[in-house]
Amino acid sequence: MGKVLSEDAVRQFRGDGFCDPIRVLSVEQANAIRARLEAQETANGGPLKGSLRFKSHLLFKWQADLIRHPRILDAVEDLIGPDIMCWTTNWWIKPAHSPSFVSWHQDSHYWGLDTDRLVTVWVALSPATVESGCMRMIPGSHRGPDLPHRDTFHEHNMLTRGQEIAVDVDEDAAVDIEVGTGEAALFAFRIAHASHPNRSDDRRIALAIRYIPPDARQVAADWDSAALVRGRDPFGHFEHEPEPREDFDPIAVDFHRRAEEQQRRILYRGTDWEHHRT
Ligand code: NI
Repeated sequence: MGKVLSEDAVRQFRGDGFCDPIRVLSVEQANAIRARLEAQETANGGPLKGSLRFKSHLLFKWQADLIRHPRILDAVEDLIGPDIMCWTTNWWIKPAHSPSFVSWHQDSHYWGLDTDRLVTVWVALSPATVESGCMRMIPGSHRGPDLPHRDTFHEHNMLTRGQEIAVDVDEDAAVDIEVGTGEAALFAFRIAHASHPNRSDDRRIALAIRYIPPDARQVAADWDSAALVRGRDPFGHFEHEPEPREDFDPIAVDFHRRAEEQQRRILYRGTDWEHHRT
């Protein structure tokens, strides 16, 4: 038995590439974070766009607190040990009745990270159901190789380059990962995953937090950064990100400018990325 995950859950994660969702926040706590997000959206005049979509834990104190939530880190520690860095965060927000979808892909194909131990903690701030377009995963696909991908830049594809696996995916094998408000799904770096459009009356809101052990390396760029959120970093492969003391803390905002631009350069490498900056 780990700090949060049972032996069965750890075994399931190793074998399938994901485990059953765990509760990390009460519904009330999740709703309070959603209210902070939506207040920010109102202040911006719409959904988070452009640079706000990458590493916004450097901008918002409440998001910086969420990536350091003890229960989330305890679950990650059960999988990768006590030294934990947060490499990035990404919001995945599907408006009610929207055509936005995510094609089948492996995160490991694009991020330039040399590790097989990255864990994503996908925190739901509204119900992720089959109707609202929850994630779907192919069990065990994380144990296979990196599959070939192609870029589509499809209008409604939520991925940076509309990337999709370029070989047939066995849809019959896919498992729907339903996640309740305040729960989190945990999944492995190489797992093949996708999601359908949101056909529900509510927004489908989730924050994906990407955790790595400090021995991971960025091999697609000379410089990268991450936040040390638990334990030690004896390797120094990533510049340590500051923790904001308040929303838009100037030191963290300045760091964010460099870090999110570098992250986009990595994610769009090999494409005409300057065209995709909004
Ligand atoms: Ni993904």
